[in-house]
Amino acid sequence: MMKVLITGGAGFIGSHVVRLFVNRYPDYEVFNLDALTYAGNLENLGDIEDASNYTFLKGDINNALEIDDLFKKHQFDKVIHLAAESHVDRSISDPLAFVRTNVIGTMNLLNAAKELWKDNFKNKLFYHISTDEVYGTLGETGLFNENTAYDPNSPYSASKASSDHFVRAYGETYDLPYVISNCSNNYGPNQFPEKLIPLFINNIIQNKQLPVYGDGKYTRDWLYVIDHAIAIDLAFHQGKTKSTYNIGGFNEWQNIDLVKLLCKIMDKKLDRAEGASEGLITYIKDRPGHDKRYAIDASKINKELGWKPSVTFEQGLEKTIDWYLKNEDWLKNVTSGKYQEYYTKQYIAN
Ligand code: NAD
Ligand code: TYD
Repeated sequence: MMKVLITGGAGFIGSHVVRLFVNRYPDYEVFNLDALTYAGNLENLGDIEDASNYTFLKGDINNALEIDDLFKKHQFDKVIHLAAESHVDRSISDPLAFVRTNVIGTMNLLNAAKELWKDNFKNKLFYHISTDEVYGTLGETGLFNENTAYDPNSPYSASKASSDHFVRAYGETYDLPYVISNCSNNYGPNQFPEKLIPLFINNIIQNKQLPVYGDGKYTRDWLYVIDHAIAIDLAFHQGKTKSTYNIGGFNEWQNIDLVKLLCKIMDKKLDRAEGASEGLITYIKDRPGHDKRYAIDASKINKELGWKPSVTFEQGLEKTIDWYLKNEDWLKNVTSGKYQEYYTKQYIAN
């Protein structure tokens, strides 16, 4: 039986990957290792927690001894590494936390895998999940592809770039079999309401201001989270070892246009007057080091593995909004307590 370790499986993307693997591969033993930080939530996995091929392990990838012990005890064959500090705004106020988890935590996993697998790398894999933000920013035109030079601008993207380099270096130096994928902005159910889309959905529900950074003309390429999970499944099973895949939605939006679309759909769903939510838009001081534009050329994964997004942005956004409206308890639980401190510091105190 193949033993697959998924790190960060209680988070946004990780929970969708865990669910997909547990449901699609009953003959795999799926382990979810997660420290349950503010972003990790076992409520995301309630439907599969009792599955016979699933085990949750509470643990911190920053603790090298603990990680070594887990690898020795469970003898994992393959790793899908998603655990990370993932929010750019938090990386601006506490960059060191990002170095600890994203760089040192990744190193601890790489070392444990190398130690366990060193006598025979056959049928072993370290699959590292990364972001398109490592490539820095684009101007008005052009797309990131797998050969674009790394040029990270935020502490978050610098920490992810560093971890990508270490994964590749372990492949070159020790022959550790790896795959890396770099994906564009995800959205969908279970995303913590600090990122643009769930934050704004929550604020619209509560009639709170919608804080748009700068002039709102920053561009992102958005992908529905389940399409990312499907791409990860494909790259895990069929990806070429020691290679990189870019994953994106072929779906660029300027923030302000996206926010206006979100407002329009939410007004309908909430039976509010047309234009009611747009009135909540407030332009605020720009994020420092704000990358102007991200856009992915996903033709390699399309050609090699036959992947393409399965839902349009309008369909994905509608599914996402419906999920948040149906799961107000989830939203209430994650926005109580510490969230209030974060929100005040990020949007009210400054
Ligand atoms: P998230 O913040 O929702 O979840 C991160 C998970 O990692 C949480 O469950 C958290 O508890 C866990 N975690 C954090 N620190 C840990 C530690 N020290 N030890 C063990 N677990 C720890 O993040 P996400 O948006 O789901 O992103 C998952 C991965 O995908 C990250 O590596 C991120 O860089 C990458 N990524 C995210 C996006 C996006 O748009 N969200 C896009 C491309 C790539
Ligand atoms: P975010 O969801 O933080 O993702 P990333 O910075 O990793 O791309 O932000 C997406 C875009 O939305 C980005 O250009 C910043 C902008 N944004 C706002 O204008 N206001 C906000 O409150 C947030 C969280 C983001």
